[in-house]
Amino acid sequence: MLDWSDTSSASKAAAFIPLPQAPADATGLGTIDRAGGRVSVDEKRMINCRADVNQLLPLKYKWAWEKYLAGCNNHWMPTEVSMQADIALWKSRDGLTEDERRAIKRNLGFFAASESLVANNIVLAIYRHLTNPECRQYLLRQAFEEAVHTHTFQYIVESLGLDEGELFNMYREVPSITEKAAWALRHTQHLDDPDFKTGTPENDQSFMRDLVAFYVIFEGMWFYTGFAQILSLGRRNKMVGIAEQYQYILRDESIHLNFGIDVINQIKIENPHLWTKAFQEEIRDMIRTAAKLEAAYGRDTMPRGFLGLNAALCETYMHFIANRRCAQIGLAPVFNETENPFPWMSEAMDLKKEKNFFETRVIEYQNGGALNWE
Ligand SMILES: [Fe+2]
Ligand SMILES: [Fe+2]
Repeated sequence: MLDWSDTSSASKAAAFIPLPQAPADATGLGTIDRAGGRVSVDEKRMINCRADVNQLLPLKYKWAWEKYLAGCNNHWMPTEVSMQADIALWKSRDGLTEDERRAIKRNLGFFAASESLVANNIVLAIYRHLTNPECRQYLLRQAFEEAVHTHTFQYIVESLGLDEGELFNMYREVPSITEKAAWALRHTQHLDDPDFKTGTPENDQSFMRDLVAFYVIFEGMWFYTGFAQILSLGRRNKMVGIAEQYQYILRDESIHLNFGIDVINQIKIENPHLWTKAFQEEIRDMIRTAAKLEAAYGRDTMPRGFLGLNAALCETYMHFIANRRCAQIGLAPVFNETENPFPWMSEAMDLKKEKNFFETRVIEYQNGGALNWE
């Protein structure tokens, strides 16, 4: 049984042979090297690889392949989740407070566009520069999962009869959401420049900044307060359909996050010259800034708070998560040590405890061609 706990599984003792030359063909779409030898494991690299990226085997990074298999095993579609209870509650006059409605809408608005931002970053920036076929195999799976997540928000909008323009434009129109998206985009914009290439320390560090901004911060920090908001409502039996969908998204995202952490740690192993003290401090600053942006978003989303959840608790949770992410990529914590204010979130994240829940659902899914949710 695979363990998707937060510990990095990147191979710490990977054989490393320095590569002085620039990569021959990072895309896999160049001229076929008819005279070249067969790929050996030792030639494979996370970035700047000269070995043929079209040959999956022999595998070097088994953790990447295992995450691809786990992603496939977790397949789900949002339309398999009944929205009847959510529709009834949303349309009821007094089932939800105004504060709860505001938090739900802002939460959905944040995720609706963020899933597309993450997907675009994978396909248009990360994929090009990650020169390893087993990692690319995982990225293809992840890209599809991000499409499923975007589909989830389309399905929620349609089910609840929400204003699609309001929701999908929140990332432009609600400043606390725009600030987060704009901050993350700064770290990816130059990567999709056709002239950008890894291979210099500056550009390799740029690529790592993008990995941190999207995997560690966007998916690994900001998404987690979003999950906490909705799962907290679900625990009180409110918006249970959305809460179930968020559990599936959380299950996917915990693998995305762990993949990103393994990628960063493996690049560090293969390119120790990139992980300078100054660069480490820069990454810690990124994480600190991201936590501040999230605290502002929390205050905007929950100006008064509601049962069991408020902006101050979300800020404490973000500090707890930020320190955890620092530890996962080998950095000193950025905040004072703090207790997890949402201990129930680790239960939602613990896939072993969720096993029965998901196994039940998988059986339903396999027999589910004619499932009727009425
Ligand atoms: Fe996602
Ligand atoms: Fe993701």
